[in-house]
Amino acid sequence: MKIFDTHSHYDDAAFEGDREQLLNSLTKHGIGKIVNVGADIQSTRNTLLLTQQYSFVYGAAGVHPSETGGLDEEQINWLRQVANEEKIVAIGEIGLDYYWKEPEPETQKYWFVRQLALAREMKLPVIIHSRDAAKDTLDIIRTEQAKETGGIIHCFSYGIELAKEYLQMGFYLGIGGVVTFRNAKKLKEVVKYAPLEQLVLETDCPYLSPEPNRGQRNSSLNLPYVAEQIGQIKGIPTDEVIAITSRNAEKLFFNL
Ligand code: NI
Repeated sequence: MKIFDTHSHYDDAAFEGDREQLLNSLTKHGIGKIVNVGADIQSTRNTLLLTQQYSFVYGAAGVHPSETGGLDEEQINWLRQVANEEKIVAIGEIGLDYYWKEPEPETQKYWFVRQLALAREMKLPVIIHSRDAAKDTLDIIRTEQAKETGGIIHCFSYGIELAKEYLQMGFYLGIGGVVTFRNAKKLKEVVKYAPLEQLVLETDCPYLSPEPNRGQRNSSLNLPYVAEQIGQIKGIPTDEVIAITSRNAEKLFFNL
């Protein structure tokens, strides 16, 4: 079984010099499928192009909370058209980010709710970005019945108590490079607690490269380090982590 990277940004300028070469090398290094995630209108457009260029690249259409300042209904209509494309398998990344205070929380909340409604309408799972916004994210996910479509809580950064809430609703937790960091005690506890059947692998590349490559540009090639770390925490072989997390992703995105 090959690795499924559920969250990447290969449209990022960090890949300008070697994008094609890198993407073409992934299969022979054990990477099976990738979801490239939109963060604004332009990156969603570029995500769609990547899905057309590479057979193993799938896409998520959506606007990141920090980019919702200029969003309007016309753009939501455009996102709906993109979401209709066969290889667009999720709405994301959407959510709340109160670490960056722009735009104001009310604006972020409005467009989070709006994009959750779009996901329900399109019957697509969601990829949730939530940073320093634990309570509001959970409140909105509950009120909007987001468990109907389900999805991934990307780069999960909260504790066991909150993990429990999301796991009970059937969400998956996205685990990436952070789990390999020495100081990531809380995340290691969450990984130990959560059933492997509700974890998925993600890079968030070019960001969040795992040890031993921390600080460098990240890519899907680093995911074996993440799988190995999850295996060590749970006391199971790396191969099993890869097999189960890939199956989880296929189930979520392709209804398999
Ligand atoms: Ni991301």
